[in-house]
Amino acid sequence: MSSYSHDSDGPKSFTIAWIATSALLAAFVLGLLVFPPLYDAPKGEASSMVLFVGRFHPILLHLPVGILSVLCLFELICSTQRGEQKYGEASLLMLILGAAGSVLAVLAGIMLSREGGYVGGNFSLHQTMGLVGTAGVLIALVVRLMAMGRESMELLNAYRALYFISFGIMGLGAHFGGNMSHGNKFLTEHAPAAVKGPMVAMEKWMLSFVEKPKAEPKTEPAPEPKADVAEKPTPAPASSGMPAPAAPTTPAPAAPAGGGEKLVFQHVILPVLTAKCNKCHCEEKSKGDLRMDTYEMAIKGGENGKNFVAGNLKDSLSITRIMLPDSDDEHMPPEGKDQLTPEEIALLKWWVEQGASGTQKVGEAKFPAELQATVDGILKG
Ligand code: HEC
Repeated sequence: MSSYSHDSDGPKSFTIAWIATSALLAAFVLGLLVFPPLYDAPKGEASSMVLFVGRFHPILLHLPVGILSVLCLFELICSTQRGEQKYGEASLLMLILGAAGSVLAVLAGIMLSREGGYVGGNFSLHQTMGLVGTAGVLIALVVRLMAMGRESMELLNAYRALYFISFGIMGLGAHFGGNMSHGNKFLTEHAPAAVKGPMVAMEKWMLSFVEKPKAEPKTEPAPEPKADVAEKPTPAPASSGMPAPAAPTTPAPAAPAGGGEKLVFQHVILPVLTAKCNKCHCEEKSKGDLRMDTYEMAIKGGENGKNFVAGNLKDSLSITRIMLPDSDDEHMPPEGKDQLTPEEIALLKWWVEQGASGTQKVGEAKFPAELQATVDGILKG
């Protein structure tokens, strides 16, 4: 075993560094036990304190990014014996601070996800790679301390390999976090063609591991929110019928889902809105002042009104925002959130085009043939 020595006093024990490292490991494990990483956290359960801390995630993450990047440079210098003698302890300090920053950022990130609505490929990769990268950096820290205690160059090399791999995983994970707030095209949009192709391909390849295929509803096991809605006795949809649904103020005299007959809005359209929009547009959270948990509210719209205008796709704010490119700030659902499938979009458009009715019965509706499977899937819940 090749060895080096720090100075003439022989091997050091690094007691304080070991204590800090143990504390970090404990904080990471305990934190994950209290806030287990979920891939579709239910909203409304987290305390406001958790949500408050969670919002610091975008600030906190800069700490490890900065420190660990500088550490990469230091580790290159430390790969020689002399370098290690001179800068080994400085690197150790950076590694501890960077690991601490990563632990904080990861835990705050998990708390942030408790706001609900964080689903989709970018989020899955961001969370998974952030966790794996941080765990890797922590293990690397332990290995570095062992190496320094034993003054072993071999262990140090093993540490460095582990560190660079972990840092790489973290960096890629961070990229998918960036996609969540800036849109998938943010980094690649202005890239030279030669770089853009491989980058986009690599990103797609990675996302393909975690993204659900845009599934035919037939093969898809019923997503819970839909089932939930089908069961709930929701208020009667407004009357005013098919041709003039733009004035939905008169409440429907009819009983909900008259005689067990299912209604197009209540049982086909609303489940889609509930699953894809209403995490942010319902009673608990009405972003843009928009709620869509009942027919009246969905028609009325939010700040800018005109949410669904019968027979007019262009004037229907929800439709126009759905149709914007994913990367557009106004696109709905926002980038990184569970998106509508092409079938769901076609269904919403069909519903608006043929009158945005709240009372039309499923049995009397003429769904386009290519959407029948989707409709059946939704009806089955
Ligand atoms: C993750 C949260 C989230 C989801 C999911 C979401 N939205 Fe939004 N939505 C927002 C926020 C935030 C705003 C307000 C800021 C803005 O206007 O962009 C908003 C605003 C809107 C507005 C503008 C309302 C107005 O009158 O100004 C419309 C329309 C809208 N959303 C439609 C939808 C539709 C349709 C879906 C589902 C397909 C959806 N949203 C899903 C967060 C969300």
